[in-house]
Amino acid sequence: MNIIIFGPPGAGKGTQSEFIVKKFNLFKLSTGDLLREEINKETSLGLKITSIVNSGSLVSDDIINSLIENIVSNQTYKNKIIFDGYPRNLPQAENLNKLLLKYDQRIDIVIRLKVSLNVIKKRITGRVICSKCGKTFNEFFNPPKDNEKCCKKEFLQKRDDDNVDVAIKRFETYENSTEPVLDFYKKMNLVKDVNGEIDIESIYSKINDYLSVIEG
Ligand code: AP5
Ligand code: MG
Repeated sequence: MNIIIFGPPGAGKGTQSEFIVKKFNLFKLSTGDLLREEINKETSLGLKITSIVNSGSLVSDDIINSLIENIVSNQTYKNKIIFDGYPRNLPQAENLNKLLLKYDQRIDIVIRLKVSLNVIKKRITGRVICSKCGKTFNEFFNPPKDNEKCCKKEFLQKRDDDNVDVAIKRFETYENSTEPVLDFYKKMNLVKDVNGEIDIESIYSKINDYLSVIEG
């Protein structure tokens, strides 16, 4: 099963992907995570894209598509991918279709998390990530517990693009470039809408119902 998890910045794509990966034994392909890895390692690609990512615009399709082909072509991940944050515009969606055909695969479902800009602002400004284990928390909605073994206060970091101004820019980029991708998948009858404003467990339960039907 290949899945696309779709939605605006801060919708909960990463959070839900973690649950889905564990339950259905999938591989999470987050283009945002891949780009941040390049930025943190200060590779030549990382240096090139830092200001683009931190301004909330999209990185060029050529860069993104080559990251994707590396993984879609890998037999280990065949029909086991959850795409988080890709495709983000129509050319990327068309490229993904071509790649899937080339490697004899297809998308089984597109889960769209619906969340309003007001909720997004709070989610994004409250997000903290443990630099040791990568776990994501939220200062307002799910702070790390005091007795947490790994994720102590001193390890918690914010993303450079997680402030209100860039969040608004990312949301605009989503509305202008990414949302039109939904029509592409609606024509293929693949889109399932899920309310992304309820609690994390209830959202996962709805997604789990959809995926369990596909798994049979
Ligand atoms: P990317 O990393 O993909 O960021 P994004 O799409 O803006 O999404 P986020 O990661 O911010 O949010 P999320 O939906 O994963 O939410 P999360 O689960 O963390 O992309 C970053 C940048 O990279 C882009 O702006 C662009 O520059 C570039 N890029 C990436 N892909 C690209 C592509 N394909 N093409 C071109 N450029 C690309 O949750 C957010 C917070 O809310 C957390 O604190 C979480 O704990 C909390 N939370 C989650 N769910 C709930 C809930 N139900 N209730 C309460 N709190 C919740
Ligand atoms: Mg994410």
